[in-house]
Amino acid sequence: VQLAGQEHFDAVLAKDSRVEPKDWMPDAYRRSLVRQISQHAHSEIIGMQPEANWITRAPSLKRKSILMAKVQDEAGHGLYLYSAAETLGTTRDEMMDALVAGKARYSSIFNYPTVTWADMGAIGWMVDGAAICNQVPLCRASYGPYGRAMVRVCKEESFHQRQGFEILLELANGTAEQRAMAQDAVNRWYAPSLMMFGPPDDDSPNSKQSMAWNIKRFSNDELRSRFVGMLVEQVKVLGLTLPDDQVRFNEESKTWEHGPLDWDEFKEVLAGRGPCNAQRLERRRTAHEEGAWVREAAVAYHQKQQDKQKA
Ligand code: 3HC
Repeated sequence: VQLAGQEHFDAVLAKDSRVEPKDWMPDAYRRSLVRQISQHAHSEIIGMQPEANWITRAPSLKRKSILMAKVQDEAGHGLYLYSAAETLGTTRDEMMDALVAGKARYSSIFNYPTVTWADMGAIGWMVDGAAICNQVPLCRASYGPYGRAMVRVCKEESFHQRQGFEILLELANGTAEQRAMAQDAVNRWYAPSLMMFGPPDDDSPNSKQSMAWNIKRFSNDELRSRFVGMLVEQVKVLGLTLPDDQVRFNEESKTWEHGPLDWDEFKEVLAGRGPCNAQRLERRRTAHEEGAWVREAAVAYHQKQQDKQKA
């Protein structure tokens, strides 16, 4: 018997299978996916700015070319994710307009400044490391296009994380000044990267439903704890320290615990009052305006191809 509508949807989730674009789905499921996937895409695009800030000032040709490749990857991740969101009925223009108008969320982490070269290492190691912790489970998200986009993104994220780790390793084994620069970057990026995973579970309004829909597989605190466990091991190899003397493994709960995070700061950043929110949006607006001619040319070219086919 061909199940229809809600029954079919529930059966697909019960089998932990995939919902595809042409399948019936509850409006709330569709809306929550557009919310999350468009935010994810915006995060990738805005995330290009803090790193692009150092492309012209990279310390060597090797570092410059690696950083350029990484920033280009982020643009590609944004495009995969905008395309996945479009399969749910929203349009690229709607998402772009919302971002440029300052009405769309993107990851809090990209509203912090990149003040030294070592920040390129801390972002790669910690921010992309956090992204991997968050994105690997999303490869199994119930919505097909989202889960499949994540598989390709995760492969590229591991390159991003490794190149960041290598930058920090080189600095940590360099002069005392370079070592201090690496430690300073780790100190500044540690708490914001833990907050990337979202608010504490008891303050996470979307989690319960998102987990019921097999979109979110693990809670914000669970992934944050896993991330801390990863940092603890890897920071030893760097010969640096985490700016948190409360990190410890809880034998009963089998989870990594960490010091308190500043959720007021998090809320300020989400409200648009973080250190770099205004400049990130201004840069995005300018890039969008300056790029209008590219979009017009692409549309004109497409129209010409259409007319040729008709002729
Ligand atoms: N930055 C901005 N907003 C955040 C946030 C963050 N770090 N964490 C949570 N929020 C927002 C949520 O969007 C939600 O607001 P909304 O209802 O208006 O959308 C609110 O805070 C409450 O949070 P919830 O925990 O209830 O929300 P979610 O269930 O959506 O969980 C999330 C938040 C874990 C970020 C989830 O949305 C998610 O997994 N998103 C996909 C992954 C993602 O966006 N990663 C961002 C990093 S981009 C990146 O990694 C680039 C890489 O190349 C460096």
